[in-house]
Amino acid sequence: MSARIISLVNHKGGVGKTTTTLNVGKALSLLNQRVLLIDIDPQANLSQSVGIEDAEKNVYHVLCDKASLPIHSLEKGFDIIPAGLDLSGAELKLMTDINGYFRLREALEPVLENYDYVLIDCPPSLGVLTINALMAANEIVIVIQSQYLAIKGLQTISELVAELRKNLHTRLRISGMLLTQVNRTVVSKAIVEAVQKEHKEKVFQTVIRQNVKITEASTVSKDIFSYDDTCAAAEDYMALAKEILN
Ligand SMILES: Nc1ncnc2c1ncn2[C@@H]1O[C@H](COP(=O)(O)OP(=O)(O)OP(=O)(O)O)[C@@H](O)[C@H]1O
Ligand SMILES: [Mg+2]
Repeated sequence: MSARIISLVNHKGGVGKTTTTLNVGKALSLLNQRVLLIDIDPQANLSQSVGIEDAEKNVYHVLCDKASLPIHSLEKGFDIIPAGLDLSGAELKLMTDINGYFRLREALEPVLENYDYVLIDCPPSLGVLTINALMAANEIVIVIQSQYLAIKGLQTISELVAELRKNLHTRLRISGMLLTQVNRTVVSKAIVEAVQKEHKEKVFQTVIRQNVKITEASTVSKDIFSYDDTCAAAEDYMALAKEILN
């Protein structure tokens, strides 16, 4: 079976894309899946979250110089292609290149057989880097922070996906919407209910609760399972991984 390639998307910042990429990736790897993470965000937060700072060879060189994939092994069956700060310079180069939207897709092709899951952490924009991630993927997960309702934002993403499908013939589908940072406040509850009512079976049953352990783990560059595998966030991300597997 070929790899499931999932892009984690929302052009709103700080909603939990990077946290989810890392922790659902780790959970899938704990479930014996072979996982590749890709950081395509110039902020390079995902790379930093696994302790990789300023990787000399990073996804920029893959996109702009057609370099071979700089795959770093984190653990057995758990790899990452890091980003670097130079990635911010990729936008213009890619936009003026006729194949600029397809660079990641082309580059990934030869390694796909080595993985069960490829998870791509997108930047908070719908620019050419995110489009590279969408063109490489066959599924997207829209990450929604339950503190702030951006119905319009969801519509923008759905429209972009529809447009890419129509004009660029991708097999891309929205596999789910994930609610994160869910807590007991009235606002959070109202948003969870509104999204579930509006999008029904498109919403993952698992929601990710707000949990301070997530911030603690990130300050020491650890995934949640290595930091505290008994906490609520570890429980939630494991449940999400199982939901994705099925
Ligand atoms: N479930 C959670 N509970 C508590 N804090 C969380 C949770 N999920 C994420 N956070 C925190 O929220 C902040 C934003 O999360 P994250 O970096 O994953 O978002 P992002 O969507 O990748 O942001 P950006 O768009 O800037 O890339 C981080 O400080 C992270 O530690
Ligand atoms: Mg991020």
